[in-house]
Amino acid sequence: MELSDESVFKTRLTKLLSTSKLVKSIYFFENLDSTQDYANLLPHNDSLHGTLIIARSQKMGKGRIGRSWISPRGGLWMSIALVPDFSIDNLLFTQFIGALAVAEAIKEMTKINCRLKWPNDVLINGKKVCGILVDVNLESEKKRIIMGIGLNANIESSLINNSINVDSKATSLKEEYGNDIDLAYITNSVVHKIEYYYDNLLRTGKTMEILDRWKQESDMFGKRAIIYDGTQKFSGEVVDLDNNGSLIMRLDDSSIKIIIYYSNVSFF
Ligand code: BTN
Repeated sequence: MELSDESVFKTRLTKLLSTSKLVKSIYFFENLDSTQDYANLLPHNDSLHGTLIIARSQKMGKGRIGRSWISPRGGLWMSIALVPDFSIDNLLFTQFIGALAVAEAIKEMTKINCRLKWPNDVLINGKKVCGILVDVNLESEKKRIIMGIGLNANIESSLINNSINVDSKATSLKEEYGNDIDLAYITNSVVHKIEYYYDNLLRTGKTMEILDRWKQESDMFGKRAIIYDGTQKFSGEVVDLDNNGSLIMRLDDSSIKIIIYYSNVSFF
């Protein structure tokens, strides 16, 4: 009997992730409304940390700030639940961890240099290939993070280019690399890299390594940008990130404005 593509993917990924200290259980779905919604509804018990939800396609993928995320088969659509033991101040660094993990995994597999765009987009040739969505729940006794990753891997970019983002055009890895990539392999690589940075943050509480790495992988600095911060709009030059990961801008009237990352995180 020939194994379906689905079961080959599942078997390979389960085997590859067996060396992960972070991932304790994996839920696979052929098609789901949203891995993020599914993960957000998981019971908050001791086994939540390290639960990985993967869907081959999503019917109602969620993007940041209420946008939808087109998620046809061929992409990497995953959400991972983390129950971190570190300070609330460090929670938002998980968005940088997600973006770095994806950029590094892509570089390793394809030699393509991605660029990171604040707060959590991964771009190739100026076009968005991946977005990270971080939901934080601080209400229960234990804090909970659901990190969602949407990587346009093996899909035709024409399928995703009509509506996802108003701020950057979308692309896919297939389009930029010219070939399909091994989805199980890149998923495993992304998860292992998340694990590396997360562990480091947990052990040392130091955020500088993450910020420095993020800055190395970004080419935003010194460039002009327009930031939509809630209902306000600011334009100026991107100067730096501060120690909290907020964006420092020099506005057109020469004043310095710190853009705090809040519109991208849902507190519920
Ligand atoms: C963004 O707007 O840039 C973030 C997009 C995040 C999409 C991913 S796909 C897997 C997970 N499930 C969702 O519904 N959204 C996230």
